[in-house]
Amino acid sequence: MRIIVSGGAGFIGSHMCDRLLSEGHTVVVLDNLLTGSTENLAHLGSTKAFQFIEHDVTLPLEGKIPGGPIDGVLHMASAASPKDYLEHPIETLDVGSVGTRNMLELARASKARFLVTSTSECYGDPHVHPQVETYWGNVNPVGPRSCYDESKRFAEAMTMAYHRTHGVRTNIARIFNTYGPKMQLNDGRVVPAFLDQALRGEPLTVFGDGSQTRSFCYVSDLVDGLYRLMMSDERYPVNLGNPAEMTILHFAEQIIALTKSPSQIVRRPLPEDDPRQRKPDISKAKRILGWEPVVALEQGLKVTAEYFRKKVPAPT
Ligand SMILES: NC(=O)c1ccc[n+]([C@@H]2O[C@H](COP(=O)([O-])OP(=O)(O)OC[C@H]3O[C@@H](n4cnc5c(N)ncnc54)[C@H](O)[C@@H]3O)[C@@H](O)[C@H]2O)c1
Repeated sequence: MRIIVSGGAGFIGSHMCDRLLSEGHTVVVLDNLLTGSTENLAHLGSTKAFQFIEHDVTLPLEGKIPGGPIDGVLHMASAASPKDYLEHPIETLDVGSVGTRNMLELARASKARFLVTSTSECYGDPHVHPQVETYWGNVNPVGPRSCYDESKRFAEAMTMAYHRTHGVRTNIARIFNTYGPKMQLNDGRVVPAFLDQALRGEPLTVFGDGSQTRSFCYVSDLVDGLYRLMMSDERYPVNLGNPAEMTILHFAEQIIALTKSPSQIVRRPLPEDDPRQRKPDISKAKRILGWEPVVALEQGLKVTAEYFRKKVPAPT
């Protein structure tokens, strides 16, 4: 298949490109490099089946993609870390709304399949735990994080509308916290933030009392779930994430132990609308995709720590 990947220069997008190419597909990336980097794709430079086009997908696509059939559209473009979307709230709303519409239109016109990477943030600060796809969420529509949450909720609604109105073959992935090499070190997400602090020997910042929970999925597991979903006939959202839940405090302690860091833990006030609990119910993905994560946290963190070790100056 010839597949267009928006956001392919980002963390997950670049791993997805590797997977698609390894499956024998041809890949064209559209990315405006707002939060991604061509460095993430540098190893694909001479690959014949790969092409990078610098383009903002909220702008018209006409004339941007060289001719030839288009069989799939993966819409992954969006600022994704709280630091990035709080810095770019309007761009984030635009890429989830106008950008999604543009990519859906491309899929419709090309008779291509379409997949959008939505998020567990659609559940907001959930009242149902673990989060199951049929839960409609508890989102603050006007809080600082709403630019991301509502952009993705709109993207899901638009995707369903294109499916219902135009019969586009669509999939919606609700991704939970994912980590791995090629994350940005300074994007404010907990895995790079803790690893950065631990590798520098600086205190690890835990917000609130650290009893809030998160679950972390290694990127190769996530990409496998996305690939299976893209090949499936499921039109409604599917959670993809790792259900192994732990408190942030325990996670910080694990990172310190894993990196053999001298770092201590410091506490800071909890940010506004920070969800208390996050854990995917992945029964649906297990049932319809035969998918579940296989990489243990310790194993994934080791690889990720090695990646960051090359980027972080060792403590003096
Ligand atoms: N990483 C996670 O834990 C996580 C969790 C839930 C959902 N997601 C979703 O997965 C996708 C990828 O996330 P990521 O962590 O790789 O983020 P990322 O910031 O590393 O990648 C996003 C990419 O989109 C590009 N982009 C942003 N706006 C664009 C625009 N208007 N036109 C073209 N390109 C644009 C960026 O330059 C970047 O390369 C996003 O849709 C995100 O919402 C990620």
